Amino acid sequence: MKISVECISAVDQKCDLLVVNAFEGAKQLGGAAAVVDKALGGMLTKLVKDGEIDGKLGKVTLIHSNGKLKTHRVAVVGLGKQDKFDLEAVRTAAAAAVKKAREVKAKNLATIVHGAGVGGLNPGESAKALVEGSVLGVYHFSGYAKEKEEPDFEVEQLVLIECDRKKINAISQGAKLGLIIAEAENHARDLVNEPANKMTPSVFARLAERIARINGLRFTSLDPKKEKMLALWAVARGSSEPPRLVALEYRGNTRSKEKIALIGKGITFDSGGISLKPSKKMDEMKADMAGAAAVLGTMSLLADLKPKKNVIGVIPLTENMPSGHATKPGDVVGSLSGYTIEVTNTDAEGRMILADAITFAKKCGATQIIDVATLTGGCIVALGDAATGIIGNDQKLIDKVIEAGNKCGQKAWQLPLYDEYKESLKSTLADIKNTAGTGKAQPSTGAAFLAKFVGDTPWAHLDIAGTAFLEKGRGYLPEGATGVPVRTLIELLNG
Ligand code: BES
Ligand code: ZN
Ligand code: ZN
Repeated sequence: MKISVECISAVDQKCDLLVVNAFEGAKQLGGAAAVVDKALGGMLTKLVKDGEIDGKLGKVTLIHSNGKLKTHRVAVVGLGKQDKFDLEAVRTAAAAAVKKAREVKAKNLATIVHGAGVGGLNPGESAKALVEGSVLGVYHFSGYAKEKEEPDFEVEQLVLIECDRKKINAISQGAKLGLIIAEAENHARDLVNEPANKMTPSVFARLAERIARINGLRFTSLDPKKEKMLALWAVARGSSEPPRLVALEYRGNTRSKEKIALIGKGITFDSGGISLKPSKKMDEMKADMAGAAAVLGTMSLLADLKPKKNVIGVIPLTENMPSGHATKPGDVVGSLSGYTIEVTNTDAEGRMILADAITFAKKCGATQIIDVATLTGGCIVALGDAATGIIGNDQKLIDKVIEAGNKCGQKAWQLPLYDEYKESLKSTLADIKNTAGTGKAQPSTGAAFLAKFVGDTPWAHLDIAGTAFLEKGRGYLPEGATGVPVRTLIELLNG
């Protein structure tokens, strides 16, 4: 989708479909909708009176302009209640409008910038949210089918129109930013939606190398076995696919010793290993590398955005499979840190590979750590798909991540890291067990395991088990991979 900005009145815009808006419960139309209404001889006002245009968030009413305007059709999109209106509503409304455009096969779409006028939001931020919602909203994974039900139809052009020349610059900047962020998040979605036989650790590592090369990031790709990453190797040894640990480094402030490590769980398929998962929905475990995809998506943007920060993305990659070579429940294994681990459950493999990635990041000089992982089913029990779970040892960092998430429509909710959870991982055989074995408080015990390897480095852990992959789409989120939390990480690093 090509995005452009024009300083023009809505009634003068030539396009296949023109998008204006309405608030829920408003008796009168405002801004561009009122101007268009006048040109249409009061047709929109009549539909408001009849209740057909009710302004409910994401509801779209389509009207043919019958030659009264330069556009063939007008779509009035609902923005919801005005007192609840925010950037997230802009994303949702924008997604609804582009989906409608696709449905009616409108190639050229023009839209007013919801929020920049009557809505009272910042024009640049509104434009960014509008483009994000549009580009994320039309996402679909192409897949591999030879026969397609319907040929793919793409909206080719989205023109943001604004008649106030003073706002054009901010709108252009916001639109540009929104486009690259949404494309990076869509790219992360693609990586996650790929079947596990296509997205193996080696394929992911090669992709990471290409992204590093294009963006001028320093790239390292390591063989975990050779590097004594024994916790990562303990997970990998059951699989025929060779594991990898890759790192991509962006240096935006060479004078600073600060370095933020973004670590993404890259289990390209999680069968559970010898502690085999039930077969129901096991296919969804191709998405167990969603943390890795989000970290790669984020790293791919830094060269463009140029934040004055040093960032290293660390991605441990492997399958978790059962076999004659696999780690068994009860085995004791080593780790890069030197700590020994009693593997009480081979399905708690994410924390194993993250442990070595965390130690590696610290060896690389990380002064802050953020890890992103589809870590526990318990997080889905606690928060569903509404919010990511966040746990850590540094309240300031946790608050910053939550705030960044709230700004871009990706909620995170903090869960505790009490000493009781650390106690529950005490082992009689090794330095630590990988599960408490009780099945209780899984997000917190998972984090307590990671905390041992993090030590005193400021750290926040994002459990995206519930938010990374949806059974059913909603708003600008599709069924399947969501790309969470690319926008949060970008907001945090670039905001
Ligand atoms: N990848 C899973 C967690 C998961 C489950 C993500 C469902 C997305 C959807 C993880 O490796 C796992 O299996 N965790 C165990 C932890 C337990 C053994 C302490 C779980 O959730 O049961
Ligand atoms: Zn698992
Ligand atoms: Zn897993």
